[in-house]
Amino acid sequence: MKKKVLVLTGGGDCPGLNAVIRGIVKRAAQTEDWEVVGSIQSFDGILREPMETIELTEKSVAGIHYQGGTILGTTTKGGPFAWPVKQEDGTWNFIDRSDEMIQKLKDMGIEAVISIGGDGSQRISQKLYEKGLNIIGVPKTIDNDLSATDYTFGYQTAVQIATEAVDRLVTTATSHNRVIILEVMGRDAGWIALSAAIAGGAEICLIPEITYDLNKILKVINNRFKQGKGHVIIVVSEGAKSVNGNVLAQKSDEIGNENLKLGGIASKLLKDLKDAGCEADMRETVLGHLQRGGVPIAFDRILATQFGVKAMELALEGDFGKMVAFRHPEIVAVSFLEAISKYNFINPDSSLVKTARGIGMSLGD
Ligand code: F6P
Repeated sequence: MKKKVLVLTGGGDCPGLNAVIRGIVKRAAQTEDWEVVGSIQSFDGILREPMETIELTEKSVAGIHYQGGTILGTTTKGGPFAWPVKQEDGTWNFIDRSDEMIQKLKDMGIEAVISIGGDGSQRISQKLYEKGLNIIGVPKTIDNDLSATDYTFGYQTAVQIATEAVDRLVTTATSHNRVIILEVMGRDAGWIALSAAIAGGAEICLIPEITYDLNKILKVINNRFKQGKGHVIIVVSEGAKSVNGNVLAQKSDEIGNENLKLGGIASKLLKDLKDAGCEADMRETVLGHLQRGGVPIAFDRILATQFGVKAMELALEGDFGKMVAFRHPEIVAVSFLEAISKYNFINPDSSLVKTARGIGMSLGD
């Protein structure tokens, strides 16, 4: 009987997930004694009755490396440690089903699990590893906010999409002499915003790591128009905040999704600028999930494939409790504890920030 590796994708989707799955399956197929099973919607596929799993073969993953989304589906709610159960009064209770799930995996003959997910998923991986599960992690997120890896796959695709948005907004903003504010994703890290702002040549970029002063932004806008320069593009990260303000966030309405829903800063900024006396005509654009959907660019396909192959190799070696990571030019394995210990913020003294300032971009401070 062949040995089985279980693969799943958890948390928000991200371009490149399918390329990781394909990398795992192709590497496993070279061994003759391993087969790959996919769990539908993260661990939910195992916990549901009946279970929802699919056999992943070279044939079933052929050509999926350039498809967006994930063929396995994903979820941002619950998980084995907090499975939502509806009560008679309509409220929800969360129960720990991790032991039951580990037993189910044993009964299925699963020898290794590869969990493709962000920091939340890797925290779950660490807890399952502590309970004795043979588990390996693959980092994913468009936010690039995991410090253990130089880059996460999906991030460069998101930057490409945000840059194209800036390029398009420049032509319409110039035609109308407008200020256009573009809100991008990234949660508490400004990687997508700052990279797209530099690549697209935005005049102002606001990131969570540097609080902004509204009056300074207004001054930049007024100076530009005084000099006869016809437009201003502001790229603002969803997690940005003013010196005396807070991040705009709401509780998610998805049962079991503990993550706050960020967003609304572009609209707030436009209103605040107007209230502060900005006379320019202003518009806002929220890029939203366009940054997560669709095909991954080549860089992300390559990185995702490397992660998939490396994760399968760790399974073959029996090297568990680790997450694969990119440390240029190598793909390495780091412990889950290291992987989840530090958030990857932009250092305000970093060369990326210096580059932005060096080309005259205002960071609102
Ligand atoms: O973490 C990735 C991300 O796209 C963030 O940039 C964003 O805040 C969040 O997920 C949105 O998640 P969703 O709308 O899927 O809950």
